[in-house]
Amino acid sequence: MTPQAEFHQRDRDLHPPAYTPGYKTSVLRSPRIPLWSLQNSLSEVTGPIFSPGELGPLDNDLVLNYAKQGEAIGEQTIVHGYVLDGNSQPVANTLVEVWQANAGGRYRHRNDTYIAPIDPNFGGCGRMLTDERGYYFFRTIKPGAYPFRNRINSWRPAHIHFSVFGTGFAQRLITQMYFEGDPLIPHDSIIATIPDK
Ligand SMILES: [Fe+2]
Repeated sequence: MTPQAEFHQRDRDLHPPAYTPGYKTSVLRSPRIPLWSLQNSLSEVTGPIFSPGELGPLDNDLVLNYAKQGEAIGEQTIVHGYVLDGNSQPVANTLVEVWQANAGGRYRHRNDTYIAPIDPNFGGCGRMLTDERGYYFFRTIKPGAYPFRNRINSWRPAHIHFSVFGTGFAQRLITQMYFEGDPLIPHDSIIATIPDK
């Protein structure tokens, strides 16, 4: 994609602060010195360009895209939405990537040692391109909650991780979605870092 315009400055008040000791991991991942503002280079304000031909037909179907001898176990759901820019305009043809734990709360990752079993028919990754309205959808199973080492008895609510590209690499946003009504949400140390309730 060609650069449309200079990027909108990200509104830092809408995003959680980088340093939030209640979420232990943020302590070592946050900068210790003030940020420097740099002029964007061409490689940051252009691309990435993805075409439908690069995606597989089941890339947005997590129930089937890793299935061997049956479907993924769990409550099936269709997640859908729109990618909009800072002016609420649709971002067309942009890549949305998702990853998540299985119905028992276990990731297919070597560093995940939680006792919940791996689902042989569930990989936990998907991707799709938005249409001209910025719309995307994917089918999956509702992920399970899992414990994490933040404090004693700390559990993540069910969630799906998202990566959203805008019209340039420097706009990439990593975020998570949750399921309304999940009783673990008010107790989550990561959600608690968001200043605007
Ligand atoms: Fe997660």
